[in-house]
Amino acid sequence: MRTFSDRSTAAAEVLCVAIIYSLALSLTAQSTGNCISKTQNGRTPGHCISIRECEYFMRILSSVNLAQSDRILLRDNQCGARGRDVQVYTETRALLLNCCHLSNDLQVCCPSTDGLGSLKHPLLPQDCGSVRWQRTNVTETRIKEFPWLALIEYTKASNEKIHACGGVLISNRYLLTAAHCVTSAAANNLQISAVRLGEWDTSTNPDCQFQEHTNVADCAPVYQDIGVEQVISHPLYNRTDESQVNDIALIRLAQPALVNQFVEPICLPNKQLRADELEGLITEVAGWQAKSSSRMKKSTVTITSIEECQKKYARQNLHLQSSQLCGAANSNECHGNSGGPLMLYKNGGYLLGGLVSFGPVPCPNPDWPDVYTRVASYVDWIHGELRA
Ligand SMILES: *[C@@H]1O[C@H](CO)[C@@H](O)[C@H](O)[C@H]1NC(C)=O
Ligand SMILES: *[C@@H]1O[C@H](CO)[C@@H](O)[C@H](O)[C@H]1NC(C)=O
Repeated sequence: MRTFSDRSTAAAEVLCVAIIYSLALSLTAQSTGNCISKTQNGRTPGHCISIRECEYFMRILSSVNLAQSDRILLRDNQCGARGRDVQVYTETRALLLNCCHLSNDLQVCCPSTDGLGSLKHPLLPQDCGSVRWQRTNVTETRIKEFPWLALIEYTKASNEKIHACGGVLISNRYLLTAAHCVTSAAANNLQISAVRLGEWDTSTNPDCQFQEHTNVADCAPVYQDIGVEQVISHPLYNRTDESQVNDIALIRLAQPALVNQFVEPICLPNKQLRADELEGLITEVAGWQAKSSSRMKKSTVTITSIEECQKKYARQNLHLQSSQLCGAANSNECHGNSGGPLMLYKNGGYLLGGLVSFGPVPCPNPDWPDVYTRVASYVDWIHGELRA
């Protein structure tokens, strides 16, 4: 018997069954790597990748005057190279071999911390992923806590409107969501009619939050319902394939969103964000799936080993790829809407790590991790689709 479900094939009314959990915020990543790189800050776990993919070293290489200390740093981090000066900072010989096999390219041990940087692009905002209050480990959210969360509005043939899937704002003009949220709509005679931004409590508008001690109200403007100009589903997404690879879609808004403290894009990660680098990381999801509340709720998700997750799902004939992430719920309730964000807190802000794709039904189920689309794998695709 199947213990999980491809959420895209759920009934039309329940387009997006969520995923989720409760909280236990340990806010720092236990970063693991397959080699040890040497940086100005000392020894740092890293991953052996092509030097061209390593922003940390490319930045050093592109500096006008390469200092002698930078030359040494580069040399010390080189692995698998032809030259004589090869010296790799690994814990053991075994790790060294592991690090440098199978490549003709010049590889370096790229420090992991750099992989969690945010992406720079002319059509993506500099201001993104802001944190506006003290972060907490409760499931309740603050009114300005996740201003990039969106809800997708669907219109039925009868003209009735419903909100089902979630989405995440990445600029004032674009959102990301899951491809299944987009393609299953058409299959169910639903039209994607708008996107709701600046939502917090779905039972009130405008929303206000009262501060506990002073009873002063923090009120948001009314939510923004913005029409959809274009929906771009990933070209390789196959709705009927249960593995749900490439479950990602872009939505271009008909007008730019009005950005304020309650509506703000999240930062996209740079390409280097690798699945194994995220293993063990405590991330967050948020959304409106909780039966107990009309307010947005949040919980933490621990990223689990992709290999183990692949093995587990393979028993059900699902073939997960490295462009997917698995996460274990730390809660007894589901909060994140399908298509909504898996968020990484890094360097004082939030990066988009994943999109809620599918998972066990009912959820959560401690035996089956939830599956997310790994956004860093789609950075080139996103770039190629963005227009001014
Ligand atoms: C949440 O934070 C409080 C106060 O910092 C702490 O006492 C409590 O143990 C934390 N709970 C969890 C589940 O981490
Ligand atoms: C989509 O997936 C289904 C089920 O795995 C498969 O039968 C079909 O050939 C796939 N379609 C394409 C276009 O790859």
